[in-house]
Order: sequence, then structure tokens, then C-alpha cells
Amino acid sequence: MHLRSSALRGTSAAALTALALTACSGSGVHGTPGADGVRDPYFPKLGNGGYDVAHYDLTLGYDPDARHLTGTAEVTARATQDLSAFNLDLKGLTVKGVTVEGKDASFHRDGQELTIRPPDDLDKGETFRTIVRYSGSPETITDPDDSEEGWLRTEGGALALGEPTGSMAWFPANNHPSDKASYDIRVTVPKGLKAISNGELTRESTKNGRTTFAWHSAEPMASYLATVAIGPYEVKKSTTKSGIPVLTAVEPSEAKDSAKALARIPEIMEWQELNFGPYPFSSTGAIVAREGDAGYALETQTRPTYPGAPETGLIVHELAHQWFGNSVTPKSWRDMWLNEGFATYAEWLWQEDHDGDSVQEIFDQIYAGDYYEDKEDNDAIWAFPPAKPPSAANISDSPVYERGGMVIHKIRRAVGDDTFYDIVQGWTKTHRHGNADTEDFTRYVERHAGSEAARGRVRAIWGPWLYGDGKPTRP
Ligand code: TRP
Ligand code: ZN
Repeated sequence: MHLRSSALRGTSAAALTALALTACSGSGVHGTPGADGVRDPYFPKLGNGGYDVAHYDLTLGYDPDARHLTGTAEVTARATQDLSAFNLDLKGLTVKGVTVEGKDASFHRDGQELTIRPPDDLDKGETFRTIVRYSGSPETITDPDDSEEGWLRTEGGALALGEPTGSMAWFPANNHPSDKASYDIRVTVPKGLKAISNGELTRESTKNGRTTFAWHSAEPMASYLATVAIGPYEVKKSTTKSGIPVLTAVEPSEAKDSAKALARIPEIMEWQELNFGPYPFSSTGAIVAREGDAGYALETQTRPTYPGAPETGLIVHELAHQWFGNSVTPKSWRDMWLNEGFATYAEWLWQEDHDGDSVQEIFDQIYAGDYYEDKEDNDAIWAFPPAKPPSAANISDSPVYERGGMVIHKIRRAVGDDTFYDIVQGWTKTHRHGNADTEDFTRYVERHAGSEAARGRVRAIWGPWLYGDGKPTRP
């Protein structure tokens, strides 16, 4: 039996169990257990090693009164090593049974790690199907920064939000942005309620007092962007000028306040396609939950989620994420500024193009320390460098957003507008539906800066603005 050292490093109880199972199971064994995490710098247990998921097929039923979820998750994956066992991430809930390639598999749970030992080893390169049957009352997860995600209960319904870890509260997954997959999400709820999710609605049918909504996402999606919203949503459909279907789902109590801003989605999309390149997905829209159902908006794929009626600027931010974050996805949670810096920049650009302050004016206000009313908030922007948040609790702090946006503006000034838009559109095209990190980005910008002089200017940005502590000495 050959054990790669990585399988033994940081051996958790789950990994040890898997190892023991492997060692005991006689002849024909050639695989080793997949790692129990992908060593994200902030969330080391998120994701798993040894396989790559191609598709999630989720069949869910939810009873809001009993707060009870039943789920069947079919996970189609390809082994990237010979595997004797592998993990999925799942927090809470009760696993009732697991099969791999149609045969019962033994499993073991330890915290968020579900270790699965298939009866036959999986060969490197093999595509295999795992079915996990589970049920229970899904958890709300409190993040290192005290925000709440996972499964959020709402009045008479629920809202599932997954950044950065929460998806494991409602389905078993390789729960890390580095492994994207296509999805089918089917949700059955009591008749009268709606279940909204990502992608396109392919079926809606009612039987025995329950309605099933089937949603399909053909383009790759990171698990943190998967969502389900259950409630008495009002659904409206339209189309953008470029032919992309728009589906909005709005809590009736928010309908009046959100109508005007939501009606601008096609116009915002058109402006973004002009600036960022072709829209990467097959549909778009919004989910407007009640104010208080969540503490923040989230760029859930194709259909961002808002807690209460959104302002136009917030819609611009969340739809910009469809290019920056959802299509071009960070390799790890350290690269968050690539999401939030660009989405913040998109808001500033929108203002510049719609009779508001220019981006340069916004940049100058921030640098001068009079962007926010409170000195504390202005100072917080310089608390740490965007490409190196000090801890998991800081990945959504203002240096990642505003100082990240300022980095983008520094690039624009260094290369000029024409080259800048070529870089932005080239970046979204090159890494469309992929993953990228900060070094991929800085290398790309340097290579496409246009001239030796411009290359020198962008290179001078990275040290003080991306990686350096404190406020850069020059704006
Ligand atoms: N990505 C969200 C936005 O900017 C904000 C957010 C919600 C977030 N939850 C998070 C950012 C967790 C980082 C981590 O619209
Ligand atoms: Zn954002």
C-alpha cells in the first residue's frame, strides 16, 4: 500500500478511520484516502482531496412548520488519485445511507467531515456516482465574523446562503470554491409556497398538496453560490436585450419598494456586458427576501439574494459578481479581493457613468479619509492589505472591498482607459468558468499592460497596495 505523505499529514479522526478501513480490507486495495481538506489558508477543512465533482443532483423536500429537510444528493465526480475512501463536507443533519456506484458504502462522520468508504476502490481517472440520503433540521452557521449563513429560517419558509462555508448545512459537497460543478436542484414544498434556486426553472408540478420546483444550472458553480429560497415569492419574468431570461422572485411585502430598481436589471446587465464582456450564464434575476431574513446580500449564481428591497448600486454590485467571483472564481478564500474589489469598482464605475462622482473623485475621498462619516470607518480601509487578510474573520472587511477597488483604479490610471477595458474583458474571457488567484491576476495585468513603461507602473502597485501593511504613502 502506497501512502502519499499528504494523506498522513494533519491526520484527523476521520482520516484515521478511513486509513484503518483501507488497511483492513484485504486484497485488491491500491487506493489511499483522499485528503479531508484542500488547505485553504482560512478554512483548512473546507473541500476534500482526491476527486473533482462534475455534477450535483439534489432532490430536497422541506416542511417549514416542522423545519424538516429531507435530501438525496447524487454527486458525480472523477477520481484524481486511486481512492480507498473520500470525504464530503456536511454539517449537522442525519445521514441515512450512502451508495457509491450503486453499492452500499460505509461511512463515518466527524464534525463537518463525512468519510465514505466504497466497497471497491476507485481508480484514478474513474468517474463515479455517490448517493447520500439524509434528513433533519438544517443548521444556521455563525461565521468567524459573526454573520449568519447556511440554512436561515424565515417566517414560513427558509433561505440558504453559502458564503463562505454554509452550503454544507443543506447538502454534502466538495465545499470549496476551487471545485465548481453543474447543478440540478429540485425542491418540494407545501403547495402555495415557492422554492427559488439558481439557473433555469425546468419544471413546476403539484401533487398531493406539494409543489416541486426543478432548477438547472448548466454552467459551473461554486458550492458557496448555490441557494434555495422558500416562501410565498412573487415570480416575474422578462428578457434582456441580448436575450437572457430574467427571473425575479420577490417577497410580497417587498414588492412595492423593489419594483423600480428590479426593473433596471436589463439595463444594468447591458451596461455590464459592455464593460466586462459577454454575460457568462444562461439566466439572471434576483431573489428579494424580507429585510432581516439575512444580514447581507449575496451574489448567488444567476440570481443574487437581497434582504429587502435593493438599491440600484447593490444590484450593480451583485450582478458584477456574476463575472467577478461566479465565473472567474477565487482559488481560495484568500483571493476574495478579486471578487469584492471588482464588484466595488463596478459600483463606482456605474456612478461615474450615471452622473455621479467619478471613480477618481471617490478614490480621492477615500485616500483623504473623508469617504465615510466616521473616522473609524475611514481608517478601517487601511487595516490590512487586500491580498493578505489577517484571518477568516476579516475576509469581508473594507480593505477587501474599498482598498481592493482602489487597486483596480490604480491599474486603470497606470495603463489608460482603452487598455484597462481590454484587460478587464480579457481577464473575464481568459478565466471564464475557471478559478484564478491574485498572482494569476497580477501576471495577467503585467503581460497586457501595453508598454514597458506601463508594465513598470503596474508592477509598482502590487507591493504597497496589494501586499503592504498600512496606507500606501502615495495615492
Ligand atoms: N459577497 C457578499 C457581497 O459582497 C458579501 C458577503 C456575504 C460575504 N457573506 C460573506 C463576503 C462572507 C465574504 C464572506 O455581496
Ligand atoms: Zn460583493
